[in-house]
Amino acid sequence: MPSSIRLGVNIDHVATIRNARGGHLPDPVRAAKLAAAAGADGITAHLREDRRHIRDNDIERLKAEIDKPLNFEMAATDEMLAIALRAKPHAACLVPERREERTTEGGLDAAGQHNQLAPFVSKLRDAGIRVSLFIGADPRQIDSAARLKAPVVEIHTGAWCDALAEGREKAADDEWKRIVAGVEQARDIGLEVHAGHGLDYATAEKIAALPSIAELNIGHFLIGEAVFEGLSQSVKTMRMVMERGRAQASR
Ligand code: PXP
Repeated sequence: MPSSIRLGVNIDHVATIRNARGGHLPDPVRAAKLAAAAGADGITAHLREDRRHIRDNDIERLKAEIDKPLNFEMAATDEMLAIALRAKPHAACLVPERREERTTEGGLDAAGQHNQLAPFVSKLRDAGIRVSLFIGADPRQIDSAARLKAPVVEIHTGAWCDALAEGREKAADDEWKRIVAGVEQARDIGLEVHAGHGLDYATAEKIAALPSIAELNIGHFLIGEAVFEGLSQSVKTMRMVMERGRAQASR
């Protein structure tokens, strides 16, 4: 059971703002350096097929200029696999990707796509890259991730966060129960458990109290808060609420 909890800061949306104007500013690599200095344990970036935020050169610069682990979010495509094998990030998180979605809307279908995903998991693992699968807290998907020999699963928290934000209390409660059960199931079969998507200070604090969660990956909320309080402060506050949540776990 991990006694501490890591924060991976996703800097995609610094690149979204940059790309709204074209050009080079604001620089997502500068944001990554600031986040690392403020207490991020790692940096996460998603190179989407359509390059709508992170660009290839950002990945190269993140790898070269950041001294914290890089978590490369990628679709299971040959193009992304080649980039991952060249960049050799610390970790790769396989995510589903559809061009028309605004963000990663659902988890991977690890159960239905076993044969398509298996070579990606094994090639990344063979290259020494820690592989995680971004999946919903669904018993079938968690079992399938283990069968694929992925050492890590990242549980999709988006439906829980959306239900809370929209005041759908029953749905939020049901989602929370599914997350708690999924985290336990994944831990019991020996997987390292991460979580992410849509987390804010309140939801991060609550989920950090689950002692089996080793890492949270958080982006959109932190970059949004940075508009008001600065990125350094938003990362520090996030670390503080996660530690406070984790302290609840040991009581
Ligand atoms: N984890 C994964 C696998 C994701 O795809 C994303 C979104 O890019 C996140 C975490 C972070 O989500 P958010 O930006 O909503 O914090």
